[in-house]
Formats: sequence, structure tokens, C-alpha cells
Amino acid sequence: MPALVLLGAQWGDEGKGKATDLLGGSVDYVVRYQGGNNAGHTVVVGDQKYALHLLPSGILSPECTPVIGNGVVVDPSVLLSELSGLNERGVDTSKLLISGNAHIITPYNVTVDKVTERFLGKRKIGTTGRGIGPTYADKINRVGIRVQDLYDESILQQKVEAALDVKNQLLTKLYNRRAITADQVVEELLGYAEQIKPYVADTVLVLNQALEEDKVVLFEGGQGTLLDIDHGTYPFVTSSNPTAGGACTGSGVGPTKISRVIGILKAYTTRVGAGPFPTELFDEDGEALRRIGGERGVTTGRDRRCGWFDAVIARYATRVNGLTDFFLTKLDVLTGWEEIPVCVAYEIDGKRVEELPYSQTDFHHAKPIYETLPGWSEDITKAKSFSDLPKNAQNYVKALEEMSGAPISAIGVGPGRDETIEINSFL
Ligand code: GDP
Ligand code: IMO
Ligand code: MG
Repeated sequence: MPALVLLGAQWGDEGKGKATDLLGGSVDYVVRYQGGNNAGHTVVVGDQKYALHLLPSGILSPECTPVIGNGVVVDPSVLLSELSGLNERGVDTSKLLISGNAHIITPYNVTVDKVTERFLGKRKIGTTGRGIGPTYADKINRVGIRVQDLYDESILQQKVEAALDVKNQLLTKLYNRRAITADQVVEELLGYAEQIKPYVADTVLVLNQALEEDKVVLFEGGQGTLLDIDHGTYPFVTSSNPTAGGACTGSGVGPTKISRVIGILKAYTTRVGAGPFPTELFDEDGEALRRIGGERGVTTGRDRRCGWFDAVIARYATRVNGLTDFFLTKLDVLTGWEEIPVCVAYEIDGKRVEELPYSQTDFHHAKPIYETLPGWSEDITKAKSFSDLPKNAQNYVKALEEMSGAPISAIGVGPGRDETIEINSFL
């Protein structure tokens, strides 16, 4: 059981942080492979609540080595403040490893993210404003700054100047903003260099050697399948690959090493930011899901859009990720509804469609076709095994499993580590 991937099966915020933390005590490495501090992963340990943005959730398990892989984009100021925040709470962060090939979110990337969104106006994506898209754009345009560049001042200066050449034209001529000077950026970045240095490592080598020694490596995805730049609801997506393949490119571990891909799946659906969302609710049920589920963004504090479970999306996540298991979260939030609608297919231009349409236009027109399942009213937060759940909750889980195409191997009945029903062991 060498390498496992744990990723979001919907539009993010499925409970990846909790699921990762749950396994964190039993694995040797937890690796973030894409995204950056656009993520907000909540981990509840006893009476302590942690909100992790850039750091892998494994950082809270003392035995585990947390790794920021080459596919991640790193904002050094966020990194250092997240580390010091954890240190102040008594968490040892000294084992952290950061790939020297990871790209740096520079201050100008953050500026470009914000001004681009403003410029788009009504057509904006609703990004987290953390500079994620512009940093990945620089990476692909081959004008990115990598962590290793912090340790060669003249290279850093040249690269920042090259990156700013075009951006300053845009900022001053198109967006009416002041130009950013390279010296100022270089000085700021060099100010972080020494503090970050102890963590920088050849993470590709470390992870592959660990796998050769039969150590267990867990990949923790940021965002979710439908936010994937290739497989998500483009252009309303993030700028990286949260899907399973991203774990390989974002870490330098080959696909033959991965034996299990676990999709984290909320018992209903949420989304933050703009873009299509067929089962979105604009009524009291939507309000109730938001309130009971505490559906407010961990990173930006925005209210999450809420809707019923969408089996078409779950099936799609199974397919594009090759999921072997699901971890169903937040089942407890559905307690109290007499009936629970579940979207089983879409109606698009008068036709029933069973699978996610590849055409963006069709997806924008998709109307959910619901089947209604009977609800339950009993408190399920203390349930420890599947048989502890009321019959209707069991049937809801079984129905979701059948529609989604992979076994549900764990069920979350509360935010805490122990509020989990394990059906099949992940390790
Ligand atoms: P992530 O980004 O996928 O890690 O998810 P977030 O942390 O953004 O959002 C998930 C929220 O649901 C957090 O507040 C978690 O503490 C909470 N949570 C996770 N699993 C469960 C569960 O099974 N039940 C309940 N009630 N809350 C959960
Ligand atoms: P976790 O890991 C939910 C969304 C943003 C926006 C789009 C693009 O906590 O599940 P970006 O800043 O990435 O360029 O924004 O992606 N988004 C998330 N939504 N959870 C997240 O992370 C997200 N990270 C980005 O709201 O719609
Ligand atoms: Mg989140």
C-alpha cells in the first residue's frame, strides 16, 4: 500500500483536511501536489480547530513528514505566517519539506490576480485573489520564479525583471496601475530566503526513496475535480490539476506507485465563486444547508453556494480520477429533512442526459432530474459503525454509492477526528 491519493470529488471543501488528518497518524508522508493558499482545509483535533491553507494537513501528525511538492505554488509570506501561527500553538513544523522546483507566488502575481478580476467585472471567476492563476500562467509561460531561485541573487534579479517587463506594460497601460519595480520585489523575496532554506529539499528523490523503503505516502489534493483546469467547469476553475494525475506531475512520483485514489464527497454539494452548478438551491433548503453545514469559505469568508447531491458529478469524478473509494462527509448535516432529493441525471434541451456533458454550453443549460429519498431525524453524530445509522441514512448512503460508481469506505458524521464511520480500511 505505498501511495494513496486523497482528492476532492466536487467543487472543493468536501472535507479533505479532516480526511487527511484522520490518516495522517498512520502514514509517513503527506504531500500537497498542486494549488496553493487558495485552499482552506479545516482540521479539528479535540477542542482545537486548525485552518490550513498552504501546509499539508499531515503537519498536525508528529510522526508524519509534510511535503510541499513541485506542483504547488508557494507564497513565502503566507508560508512563514502559517508556520509561525502553528508554532505559537505548540505544533512542531520542523519536518516540513518544500520542493526547490515549486513556483513562488510573487507580490505582482497577487496584484495581477486582483486587477484581472476587477477588469473582468461581471465575467469574473470569483478567484480567491491569492495570485494562483497568474503564478501558474508565469510557470507555463516560462517566466516563473521558483523556490530555488531565492538562492541565486543574480538569477532572481534577471527572472523578476523578465517577468515584470510585460506585466508592467499591462499594469500601467491597461489597468491604470503603478509599475512595480524589480528591485523592490527581489528585496522582499530575498528577505524570506534564509527562513525558508532549512525546508528546501529534493522532494522527488525523498519521496521515491521513501516508496522504495515501503513507506506510506499520502497525496492531499487542494480544490476539487470540478475545479480542475482540464476536467473542471472551465473557465470557472482553478489553474492547476487537483485530479489524480496531478499527484504524479506535482510530486515526481510515477502512476505505477499509486494504489488507491480516494474521492472526498460531501453528502450534498457546495461551490464557492462563479460558474455553473445544476443543483444549486436558492430557497430555504439552501439556506438551511449553509447554516447547518457551516458553509462559509475558510480562505475568503465567502458564503458557499449550496445544493443537493449530484450523482452525475460523482460518477464523473470516479471516471476522471479512477477512484477506488469514496469518503462521504457531512452526512450528519442532512439529519432532519423528511425527504432528500438527489440529482440522478440532467435534462438538457428537453433530453435526459446521464453523464456530464463535455460541452460548456450544455452544462450551463443542465437542469437536475431528482429522485427523492426518505430522510431521518435521529442524531447520527455518535454513530461508530454503519449499522448504528438509522435505516434511511443507510439507504441514502447505499443509494449514493450505487449511483457514484465506487464504494463508500468511510462516512463523516461530524467535524472531529473520531466522528467517522470506517467501513473499509484505507491502509
Ligand atoms: P476541505 O477544503 O476539503 O478540507 O474542506 P473545508 O475544511 O473547507 O470544509 C469542510 C468543513 O466541514 C470544515 O469545517 C470541516 O471541519 C467540516 N467537516 C468535515 N467533515 C465533516 C463531517 O463529516 N460532518 C460535519 N458536520 N462537518 C465536517
Ligand atoms: P479547498 O482546497 C473551494 C475556487 C475559487 C474560484 C476558483 C478559482 O479548500 O477545497 P483561484 O483563486 O484558485 O484562482 O480561484 O476556484 N477555489 C476553491 N473553491 N475550495 C477551494 O479549496 C478552492 N480554491 C479555489 O473560489 O471559484
Ligand atoms: Mg476548503
